[in-house]
Amino acid sequence: MRKPIVAGNWKMHKTAEEAVDLAQAIAPLVAPSLTSCDVVLCPTYTSLGAVHGVIGGSGIGLGAQNMHWEGEGAYTGDISPAMILTSGCAYVILGHSERRQYALESDEMINRKTLAALAAGLTPIVCIGEQLEQREAGRVEEIVIGQVRAALEDVEVDRAPSIVLAYEPVWAIGTGKTATAGQAEEVHALIRSFLTERFGREAADAMRIQYGGSVKAENAEELFSQENIDGGLIGGAALQADSFAAIVKAAK
Ligand code: 13P
Repeated sequence: MRKPIVAGNWKMHKTAEEAVDLAQAIAPLVAPSLTSCDVVLCPTYTSLGAVHGVIGGSGIGLGAQNMHWEGEGAYTGDISPAMILTSGCAYVILGHSERRQYALESDEMINRKTLAALAAGLTPIVCIGEQLEQREAGRVEEIVIGQVRAALEDVEVDRAPSIVLAYEPVWAIGTGKTATAGQAEEVHALIRSFLTERFGREAADAMRIQYGGSVKAENAEELFSQENIDGGLIGGAALQADSFAAIVKAAK
């Protein structure tokens, strides 16, 4: 019922030239999957225009990795919703754990960004996920649902279906330690039930929840076959065309 969505978060990798090469290699490999899976590439800001030149019109989506919530102003080093929109983006990753950790982004900031993205007509990919100590302390539900609740404050029901959530347990990011399909599905089901309470069944059933954290070609199929896992947000394995395409293929 929900179309899966697989996004490559290229993080701070690839110059514009390298990003163009990667996008060119990925495009033909994922083209056959586009009817059954939304595919999004998220290079860094300086490569957005160049990558748009490669994938514009191909059906592959373009996303930024962050943005400011204000429309414009004295925010040195920041970038606005309109700036990324006019660079060809339809998506924007918000609240990634690396931004929460290194740029000290708070739930409140992520909420403002989410509302700004929706207002601009961008699809936000809102990241949530617990740290290892929080999992070990039995606080997964409290942390993850708390982050979802805060990020989606003041979101109206009719906008909810265009939001993508990405559950990324922090301990699984870049560590090679993937959550098992069962562990991930358990949290995705909790998120879905919160969304049902918050927005009602119809909207909640339409919202896509990606899994992220050490997704590879070898584990993607099992993860993506879970009832509440609607694709993935891919880091390391998205930096190579073959492995990214194999992950896209696993999402049906
Ligand atoms: P890895 O796939 O490298 O673990 O990164 C996941 C991630 O953070 C995607 O946003």
